[in-house]
Amino acid sequence: MNSISINHILNSDKHLNKNVSISGWVRTFRANRFIALNDGSCLSNIQCVVDFEKTDQEILKKITTGAALNIKGKVIESQGSQQSVEIVVDECEILGESNAEAYPIQPKKHSFEFLRENAHLRTRTNTFSAVMRIRSNLSFAIHEYFKKNGFYYVHTPIITASDAEGAGEQFRVSTLDIKNPPLNDNGQVDFSKDFFGKETNLTVSGQLEAEAYAMSMGKVYTFGPTFRAENSNTSRHLSEFWMIEPEVAFMDIEGNMKLAEDFLKYVLSYLIDHNIDDLKFLESRLITEEKQKPQNERSEMTLIEKLLFVTQNNFKIITYTEAFEILKNCKPNKKKKFKYIIDQWGSDLQSEHERYLVEKEFKCPVIIYNYPAKIKSFYMRLNEDGKTVRAMDILFPGIGEIVGGSQREERLDYLMRKIKEVGIDEKELWWYMDLRKFGTAIHSGFGLGFERLVMFATGMSNIRDVIPFPRTPQNAEF
Ligand code: 4AD
Ligand code: MG
Repeated sequence: MNSISINHILNSDKHLNKNVSISGWVRTFRANRFIALNDGSCLSNIQCVVDFEKTDQEILKKITTGAALNIKGKVIESQGSQQSVEIVVDECEILGESNAEAYPIQPKKHSFEFLRENAHLRTRTNTFSAVMRIRSNLSFAIHEYFKKNGFYYVHTPIITASDAEGAGEQFRVSTLDIKNPPLNDNGQVDFSKDFFGKETNLTVSGQLEAEAYAMSMGKVYTFGPTFRAENSNTSRHLSEFWMIEPEVAFMDIEGNMKLAEDFLKYVLSYLIDHNIDDLKFLESRLITEEKQKPQNERSEMTLIEKLLFVTQNNFKIITYTEAFEILKNCKPNKKKKFKYIIDQWGSDLQSEHERYLVEKEFKCPVIIYNYPAKIKSFYMRLNEDGKTVRAMDILFPGIGEIVGGSQREERLDYLMRKIKEVGIDEKELWWYMDLRKFGTAIHSGFGLGFERLVMFATGMSNIRDVIPFPRTPQNAEF
């Protein structure tokens, strides 16, 4: 008899009064009688009732928290009120024993810090298995959205010779002997002797390559890992994170904003339709957590209300200049409560400013567009005013920036000028220039930080808790 999933048993009538075989891990074993078994297929455990008299004492002793079991028995309507069905155990096989005293995941509340140190076992808890099931379904919803809307999935390279964001925050990929690298006549490392014959790095974004595909296949997207060597140890930054980057030919900045809003609403609605048990569990966890906070710091909406709010309301759209005026004149700025005071047009918005706009001023997702050219990347389309670019950032409550995108500079002469100005070697981007030489056209796209979306969807407040094995400065365990 092949094992079936607990999810299947709990959500279908067809197993009632039938014999089944299930495998999973023991969450608890009570009164030498009730095993709460979980196999990760859903939030719920299934209760398996063993007959103390009929069961081998050696086996009973091995039914400990964390042990892996195979159970054969009959599904019956439950006698208790906690669950609808339970399994009367005929046979219990110990697949893998667990020394309950040494097992890190005890049936009690653990701190997230502790569970991060035990990331290989943390999905044995309700919170982390719920988060990771949501992560999995969200990524499916993302592919589904693009598929339904005529996009092709492009696998852009992970190893690259270009710095898409021009921020110089890349991890080098090299096979040179670091103790004794080959040097050129100027005494510098000679990368022509390196594996690829040039200096290469892990990609910070698949955008530039996605642009090449948009300029031939029309509507494309990438969804893959990206890497940033920025030394920011915050609850919103990872050194390795996943990014979704659609890129569309013949689409301008307005189309880009509409696409991003429609896309975000679709994937969040998908979760409400498909993961309600996990969402409800995470919501109740948050409600308990919120109760510890002072009244004025508590969230006005529950998790599911927040998701519904985003799917049912229009995003607020404002220009950088409008955002700047609001921030310059707002109370915390005037009272010098911000760490970075806003007084000069052209200064970059920090996360404290973004959060003020989203959480205090508008209380909904906000799209800011037409940013000063100076604070944005080289590839963005310059506006007629000569000082702003068609960039757009989307800010979410509790998260800050979740999406960054733009209409791209499609004019060769403007792009050449910009590249020179910021000091990029034109020769390295020859192929990117070609796209402007042969059938150039307006095109746009954006990047959504996948983990920031998972944070929003689950209410988790640290980005390290929404990716299976986080990579951050000074940490690459597992
Ligand atoms: O704003 P960013 O840097 O934009 C780009 O990389 C563009 N090339 C995207 C495009 O237009 N195709 O990054 C996009 C998003 C951010 O809005 C944020 O959500 C996320 O990626 N992000 C990070 N997430 C986790 N850890 C980090 N260190 C992140 N840096 C950016
Ligand atoms: Mg950005």
